[in-house]
Amino acid sequence: MNLHLTDEQQMIQAMAREFAGQHIKPIAAEIDRDARFPHETVKRMGELGLLGIAVPEQWGGSGADTVCYVLALEEIARACASHAVVMSVNNSLYCEPVLKYGTDAQRRRFLTPVASGHALGCFALTEPEAGSDARNQHTLARRDGDDWVLTGRKLFISTGREASFALVFAQTDQAKAHRGITAFVVEKGTRGFSVSRTEDKLGIRASDTAELVFEECRVPDAHRLGPEGMGFKIALSTLDGGRVGIAAQAVGIAAGAYERAVAYARERKAFGVPIGEHQMVQWMLADMTTAIDGARLLTLRAATLKDAGRPFTREAAMAKLFAAEMAMKVTTDAVQVHGGYGFIKDYEVERYFRDAKITAIYEGTSQIQKLVIAREVLGA
Ligand code: CAA
Repeated sequence: MNLHLTDEQQMIQAMAREFAGQHIKPIAAEIDRDARFPHETVKRMGELGLLGIAVPEQWGGSGADTVCYVLALEEIARACASHAVVMSVNNSLYCEPVLKYGTDAQRRRFLTPVASGHALGCFALTEPEAGSDARNQHTLARRDGDDWVLTGRKLFISTGREASFALVFAQTDQAKAHRGITAFVVEKGTRGFSVSRTEDKLGIRASDTAELVFEECRVPDAHRLGPEGMGFKIALSTLDGGRVGIAAQAVGIAAGAYERAVAYARERKAFGVPIGEHQMVQWMLADMTTAIDGARLLTLRAATLKDAGRPFTREAAMAKLFAAEMAMKVTTDAVQVHGGYGFIKDYEVERYFRDAKITAIYEGTSQIQKLVIAREVLGA
């Protein structure tokens, strides 16, 4: 693995860092408190090309690589995890599969507006009874002439309320179990498609997490993404890429909390000296920065393999597992370094602590990542 970033990678990283520092960081606490979706800054992310980083320019994207994507995503998450999840879902879970499995006509209609940031996309796989057991899909799509008629509910859909396009997975042939699942793109405004509720959450509060309902929702066959019965493979291969993004988000969350801990350790005095001069605090900071770098390297390895067109399922799961657990530990320690001040809202580390938790849950829990890794190791 090449540890030297190319000029383009450094440029995109620096651009994302500058944008996040100037425009996202100042509003992060407020939008978290108000659980307010940041329309203006998300729009600007689109203008900067951050919402379709790895999509070719021909389809409205930036034409960069996955390494650029994870570097930029880390920078955004360092300022605000809510912006990061919007970016991650748009890039990994919507643009990527539409680019990979879509026809040119589908790319023109469903990808270009989203990759260019004029609209947002979401990924509707999870259902009330299909979380970790993703194959247990109850949403049905019935063939009717040239159309499909969708009926069912999708739960915990990130960007579900804001997205103009949803990639929806539905059972088209129940007899074939997971080989009877098919993917569809459904546009907002389609009759029978509605958002029934949004969740009040512990973290990533400025992003929206919605329940989508499909009631006799009719879409033409031209909205089917990939062959009939390919939906589950599309979902799982998409999640491989998504997990690299969530690993980057976790690294960014941890890095943001760590930076605050370092600054506080320099300024806060106890027993007559800055607390950073106490060995117990030094050890915590040393462990934190080492763990962050470890997770960052695992993330870059998975991204590099993906860019090289090599298998990366195991590496993506390892990166996400390690980064998510690391983010929880580092943000916990960042609160600890702040003592009582870490427990109150003024110092912001409590937001990082709350935001970190979701990285060990969505796009496959840490337990599911272990299952994926173990299966790869054992060849099962
Ligand atoms: N890529 C492509 N195909 C894959 C694959 C992959 N990484 N992994 C497995 N497959 C294929 C298999 O080859 C198999 O194909 P055949 O039937 O043709 O042989 C098929 O998929 C089924 O594979 P498994 O038998 O391994 O499937 P399983 O039912 O045992 O499930 C699992 C495996 C790992 C548990 C999977 O269900 C999983 O990842 N669960 C977690 C779901 C998840 O991550 N949900 C996230 C929701 S989205 C989200 O969170 C977004 C957000 O909010 C930000």
